Amino acid sequence: MKVGVPTEIKAEENRVALTPAGAAAFMGHGHDIFVQKGAGLGSGLNDEEYGAAGAKILPNKEAVWAESEMIIKVKEPIGPEFDLMDDQILFTYLHLAADEELTKKLLATNIIGIAYETIQLADNSLPLLAPMSEVAGRLSIQMGARCLEAISGGRGILISGVSGVPPAKVVILGAGISGSNACFVAVGMGARVSILDINPAKLKYIHDVSGGHVVTVMSNRANIEEEVLSADLVIGSVLIPGAKAPKLITKEIISKMKKGSAVVDIAVDQGGCMETIKPTTHSEPIYIVDGVVHYAVANMPGAVPRTSTFALTNATLSYALDIANKGVEGAVSDDKALLKGVNVMNGKITYSAVADAFDMDYVELDFS
Ligand SMILES: NC(=O)c1ccc[n+]([C@@H]2O[C@H](COP(=O)([O-])OP(=O)(O)OC[C@H]3O[C@@H](n4cnc5c(N)ncnc54)[C@H](O)[C@@H]3O)[C@@H](O)[C@H]2O)c1
Repeated sequence: MKVGVPTEIKAEENRVALTPAGAAAFMGHGHDIFVQKGAGLGSGLNDEEYGAAGAKILPNKEAVWAESEMIIKVKEPIGPEFDLMDDQILFTYLHLAADEELTKKLLATNIIGIAYETIQLADNSLPLLAPMSEVAGRLSIQMGARCLEAISGGRGILISGVSGVPPAKVVILGAGISGSNACFVAVGMGARVSILDINPAKLKYIHDVSGGHVVTVMSNRANIEEEVLSADLVIGSVLIPGAKAPKLITKEIISKMKKGSAVVDIAVDQGGCMETIKPTTHSEPIYIVDGVVHYAVANMPGAVPRTSTFALTNATLSYALDIANKGVEGAVSDDKALLKGVNVMNGKITYSAVADAFDMDYVELDFS
């Protein structure tokens, strides 16, 4: 198969969808790899490394999209890429339930859209969201710490406190991959941490591995309000797979929070779990509502592209190779997890949560 790797064009996105080692793996299976000139530079990977792995370097995104049967990306296509979409297999993060415009653009093409974030194993885990959630969760505390600094409009609190001065209180909504990683970094920095989830097993895991040092709380409206109003930093890390994030923190709760406290909504890529959230970028990551500093960068791992590129490609490569080796139909017939990744095919929505989000028709894929 001819496989293309374009340069990411979303604001300050420096990751790339394939490393030179990944390119070599495709070449080893007899596929052709086309990499856009400079695609890896943001992650410290140069064209010579891709060339040495056997990839052909093409001058621009137009050439990569036109040459390729499968495009591997990091982020969803945006404006300048819309006209390049034709009949390729598109393997990337799509987050369609939060993006009606892109959904309609994909439906108007013959693209097969396979979303990293909806590939789901039998135990309901999301293997291609996990590595980036791990990065975003750990980073959220680092970013939250900056938000609490006076220069950002924060309360001027050091997360760890110092001797004689208490540490910050960090409240985390959602104890999944990103939430648990945020939790362990916050604990490591010496914060007082509470974490909420609707899944008792997730809370039990955090309780057990933290030796009871983290306060675990069942997530419901009353408990969320009580915890958030006493927080210095709130991390939003909830997920209902493939669907928009539930708005757990209302405008009213934000208006009652301590002035100079901060919220980091990791779930912003699924619409955010706070009513006052709007997506921000790495160059202008924060804004203030009712005295509360808001951080809502939709591609947080882009801040640490090298770590993120290697973590992402470690997870995506085997699926991408499977698609290239067997074709979409062969690969998804053999792998139920990958089947769940197919969001759009032949102009139809094939992932029910996306169809539900826009009240559109859903077509179930069946290759049995
Ligand atoms: N902004 C970014 O750059 C970035 C990067 C990676 C992931 N994400 C996003 O972060 C979010 C979380 O991802 P994840 O991998 O940690 O998901 P996950 O599935 O591992 O965890 C989500 C958790 O939310 C819990 N949950 C669901 N509804 C809840 C509720 N009402 N109250 C409390 N908890 C609830 C679930 O039980 C689960 O434990 C997703 O929206 C994902 O797309 C964003």
